[in-house]
Amino acid sequence: MIKCDIRFARKFIKDESYLRARKKSDTGLEQLKKKTGPGSEWLGWRDILAEPNDAELEQIGSLGEEIRAKADVFVVCGIGGSYLGAKAVIDALSPHFRKKGPEILYAGHHLGGKYLEELLDYLKSPKEDGSPKNIYLNVISKSGSTLETALSFRMIRELLEELYGEEASERIICTTSKAGGVLNKLIPQKGYRKFIIPDNVGGRFSVLTPVGLLPISVAGIDIRTLFYGAVSAYNEYENNADDLLEYAALRNAIHESGKTIDVFATFEPELSSMGGWIQQLLGESEGKEGKGIFPAVATFSTDLHSLGQFIQQGQRSLMETFLIVEKPFSQLSVNNLEENDDQLNYLAGKSFHEINTKAREGTMEAHSEGDVPIVRISMKALNAENIGHLIYFFELLTGIFVYSLGVNPFNQPGVEDYKKAMYRLLGK
Ligand code: PA5
Repeated sequence: MIKCDIRFARKFIKDESYLRARKKSDTGLEQLKKKTGPGSEWLGWRDILAEPNDAELEQIGSLGEEIRAKADVFVVCGIGGSYLGAKAVIDALSPHFRKKGPEILYAGHHLGGKYLEELLDYLKSPKEDGSPKNIYLNVISKSGSTLETALSFRMIRELLEELYGEEASERIICTTSKAGGVLNKLIPQKGYRKFIIPDNVGGRFSVLTPVGLLPISVAGIDIRTLFYGAVSAYNEYENNADDLLEYAALRNAIHESGKTIDVFATFEPELSSMGGWIQQLLGESEGKEGKGIFPAVATFSTDLHSLGQFIQQGQRSLMETFLIVEKPFSQLSVNNLEENDDQLNYLAGKSFHEINTKAREGTMEAHSEGDVPIVRISMKALNAENIGHLIYFFELLTGIFVYSLGVNPFNQPGVEDYKKAMYRLLGK
């Protein structure tokens, strides 16, 4: 369901370098399968697909439906792996305008006071008919103590208590570890509902656990289809992961050749947030011990008018990975204007999909001529099943590639450094 084509990039790599890297990819996959690599206690993202928990899917789905039916606003409060996956899937599969169901808003992903102040004010303000908004809050934090999330949660739950009194507890759902952390102390005290993030699944690999699935379900997306799309990818790659092994080998050889940036580019604005999720998944997994390719994100053709110049002619330190949807998901086509006063009639009758595709092909041709190795990742259609497949594709790629660098993909020791300095400055 996901095709990976490395032909446009392969010519930049010498055979011996590629073959050396391919051996490392093969070893990486073996380490994942046999659980022998560093951080192997974090491989639960594979286990959940090997043995799907249908009862939990059902439970999340029915709470999602309940909230969807009742809420005007659903606030997702989390940072990093605790919200990027849900946002990626929701943005990929929801309409841009006139969305049905609750408005989905994000909080706890930064410390900007203006945003939070305006959010609180918006939540507090009544609907157009004067009645109060019906608000639900999902706080998501595996550690239960991340400052950005914890602070926003404190402010929003206080508001909910002010608005709904004791009934506020019924509107707050906590997604956190089985035990430990401040959230786990609050849950029994306040009577909040709780979903558990499995201990062996790290934040950035957790989109297919309640972390991502509850918000995705509230957005009206069929989580079973999404989840089983990932299960089918799991089954496919347990039999034959050649595509992924080649892609990981290519990335490894490109890394060895000194390239330092991989631009994840799409011509579909719906996939912009998916780029953000991939960026975090790869970035936090591979960027250690002085190694890794910096994952950048671009949405074209918008960013061809900002980053395009650099990509075409700047320092030759880049590769690009294009995320492609083959089948049109809009029927819009260009109308014919008799006056042709804007001289666009040469496009009359063509669909926007066709025009966008030509823009993509032209861009790939130009960037390739500008010495940028290009990888194409394509899916037939933009739907929940294929997005599920894509999620596992990138999770597995991350595991294989980062092992092939000789690095533990599943920790993030560097993130602690800013926290230590920040807490010291804040007087904690
Ligand atoms: O991938 C990760 O582990 C991180 O990005 C975490 O998801 C992020 O730091 C948030 O952590 P927590 O869920 O503990 O609040």
